[in-house]
Amino acid sequence: MSERQEPRMVLACGRTARLLLALVVCSAFAAALVLVGAKRGLALRDQPAPALDSSAQLADARVDPNLACLDCHRDPSLSMTFPNGDVLPLTSDIQAFRQSVHGDRLDCIDCHQRHREYPHPALEVRSRRDYARAEYEACKRCHFENYTRTLDSMHFDAMAEGDADAAICTDCHTAHEVTRLEDSPIKIAETCSHCHDDVYQSYAQSVHGSALREENPDVPQCIDCHGVHDIASATTATFRRASVDLCAECHADKKLMDKYDISSRVLKTYLDDFHGKTVGFYQKQTAEVWPDVAVCSDCHGVHDIKAVDDPESSVVKENLVTTCRGCHPDAASNFPSAWLSHYEPDINKASLVYLIKQYYLVLIPVMVAGLVLNIVLDLWRLARNR
Ligand code: HEC
Ligand code: HEC
Ligand code: HEC
Ligand code: HEC
Ligand code: HEC
Ligand code: HEC
Ligand code: HEC
Ligand code: HEC
Ligand code: HEC
Repeated sequence: MSERQEPRMVLACGRTARLLLALVVCSAFAAALVLVGAKRGLALRDQPAPALDSSAQLADARVDPNLACLDCHRDPSLSMTFPNGDVLPLTSDIQAFRQSVHGDRLDCIDCHQRHREYPHPALEVRSRRDYARAEYEACKRCHFENYTRTLDSMHFDAMAEGDADAAICTDCHTAHEVTRLEDSPIKIAETCSHCHDDVYQSYAQSVHGSALREENPDVPQCIDCHGVHDIASATTATFRRASVDLCAECHADKKLMDKYDISSRVLKTYLDDFHGKTVGFYQKQTAEVWPDVAVCSDCHGVHDIKAVDDPESSVVKENLVTTCRGCHPDAASNFPSAWLSHYEPDINKASLVYLIKQYYLVLIPVMVAGLVLNIVLDLWRLARNR
């Protein structure tokens, strides 16, 4: 019996041992779990972990995937510091984003592909500006055409030459509050003013700028003259030559100018004049030749153009000689009166020029006719004398 019972004892003992072992293993596992949990808890308090793995938030994320980002980026105290000391607040204004053109089209990760995971992959930039210059490339993915255009711009060239302040997409459009700029010409001019404030200030006082501020759509603003994404340098000979056509686009448009009771013959009279005739000659030269004759903006100004009867206008009688002296340093005070301005000579204005012109108008045909008659008569006599 005892022999038969022994194995039972062994069996009983074995069972207890196995039970104990299981208990030890289980409690060790539980302890490990508690420990890991505690550590994770600490980690969570140190550095918020991605909220993506909680099932409630996953459900939210299905409703709106942006909520996962906002879980952390709603925090008003979240910010980061770049190696050079610049601080960037990291709080996201979701309302403002929702109202932007992208608000109902894009999710955060459409632009922020790098931020899909947390911890976010490390950044290798030194300053706030370097950060902006690295991140704006996100726009390229969907707006490739505009991105390509900017590669030909003066702003891109300036940046390539080391001017970190030259404009990139987000300077003009912002990153999260993008609106349709074409709806608001004033807003466009103000966008440029962030960096070209001196130009903007004089433009705002000009005949064009003050009309723009009254929401007149007929006057030019920055991008009508400079373009947008492919803005070229404004200080080249090519731009200077082309500037005459720029003004003429509106100022030779009779319908538009009649609206303001402004002469639309200013281009024709300019081209008939010595300055305009010579500028025509420059058009045929290579791009590098600087046209030193007066173009429209030399007399009228560029960003500070005033109405011609404005006392501050560079072409009002009192200021005109000073304007001419910019290029004709020896001009006497009556110098401009020897010049017709935009007038076409008529019996009242420049009557002598007008009369001489009329005289030639009659004289030349009469002389040509006389000459022809002379030859014909000569030939006739020759034929008869044979
Ligand atoms: C668990 C919290 C958390 C979540 C979730 C989170 N972030 Fe962040 N994010 C941070 C912290 C903290 C920083 C500060 C810098 C760092 O630690 O990487 C940061 C930095 C950033 C930055 C600026 C620095 C950089 O790397 O460009 C951007 C942009 C950003 N997050 C976007 C997002 C987007 C988009 C999402 C959602 C897809 C998201 N984050 C989800 C916590 C979070
Ligand atoms: C249209 C593209 C786009 C979308 C959509 C977008 N971002 Fe950004 N975001 C950017 C760019 C570009 C930057 C870097 C711009 C800069 O500040 O110079 C940026 C910067 C950030 C920063 C750094 C702080 C800052 O404002 O510069 C945070 C945080 C951030 N985004 C969070 C978000 C969150 C959260 C969402 C979704 C609600 C989102 N972004 C949607 C393009 C986008
Ligand atoms: C994932 C694709 C995507 C990315 C990335 C993106 N956009 Fe857009 N963008 C769109 C869509 C879609 C529209 C809406 C087009 C529409 O409604 O006609 C739009 C519209 C715009 C508009 C208005 C267009 C108009 O007709 O006036 C501007 C400006 C703009 N985006 C600038 C940006 C800038 C700046 C960035 C980078 C910070 C950027 N976008 C990044 C997809 C994108
Ligand atoms: C110097 C300022 C400036 C910069 C830099 C700039 N834009 Fe624009 N962008 C504008 C203005 C102003 C308009 C409105 C144009 C109009 O009224 O015709 C515009 C219009 C747009 C439009 C809508 C009209 C269109 O042409 O399709 C998109 C999209 C756009 N920009 C994307 C971009 C992207 C992407 C970048 C960077 C690669 C960029 N922009 C850089 C000023 C800028
Ligand atoms: C973020 C700053 C910034 C913004 C915004 C900006 N620019 Fe510029 N721009 C620059 C810098 C920097 C240069 C190169 C240095 C210089 O010539 O002033 C430049 C150069 C230019 C030039 C060439 C000047 C020359 O010497 O030939 C023109 C023209 C110009 N910008 C027009 C514009 C217009 C128009 C806008 C608005 C649609 C605009 N810029 C918006 C920074 C900016
Ligand atoms: C009627 C056309 C016209 C308008 C509108 C205009 N510009 Fe110009 N801009 C020119 C011409 C022409 C030049 C070349 C000037 C010269 O030859 O000295 C120029 C030169 C410039 C330059 C480079 C030289 C300088 O003076 O710094 C900048 C920058 C510039 N413009 C920015 C702007 C901005 C910003 C606006 C809007 C506030 C604007 N422009 C509006 C025609 C215009
Ligand atoms: C987009 C069209 C447009 C362009 C381009 C343009 N102008 Fe004008 N300009 C106007 C309009 C419209 C007025 C009338 C504004 C008003 O009276 O409210 C005006 C007014 C003027 C005046 C004042 C005339 C008066 O009443 O005494 C002068 C001078 C002038 N422009 C010169 C120029 C010059 C020079 C250029 C080129 C550098 C130029 N404009 C480019 C549309 C334009
Ligand atoms: C050499 C100097 C000079 C040049 C170059 C010049 N103008 Fe003038 N412009 C004047 C003067 C002076 C007046 C004033 C005439 C008067 O009222 O007696 C004037 C008047 C005007 C007026 C007002 C006409 C009106 O009906 O009230 C406009 C518009 C104008 N110019 C545009 C232009 C354009 C566009 C160009 C280039 C194609 C140009 N100007 C070239 C000197 C110049
Ligand atoms: C941007 C410089 C510039 C300005 C400003 C300018 N001129 Fe001239 N002008 C020239 C040049 C260069 C010539 C020589 C053109 C040629 O004959 O090839 C010239 C030629 C002339 C001539 C022909 C006779 C001569 O002296 O060669 C007259 C007259 C004249 N300008 C009058 C004026 C008057 C009046 C003004 C002021 C309302 C004026 N100019 C403003 C550059 C300018």
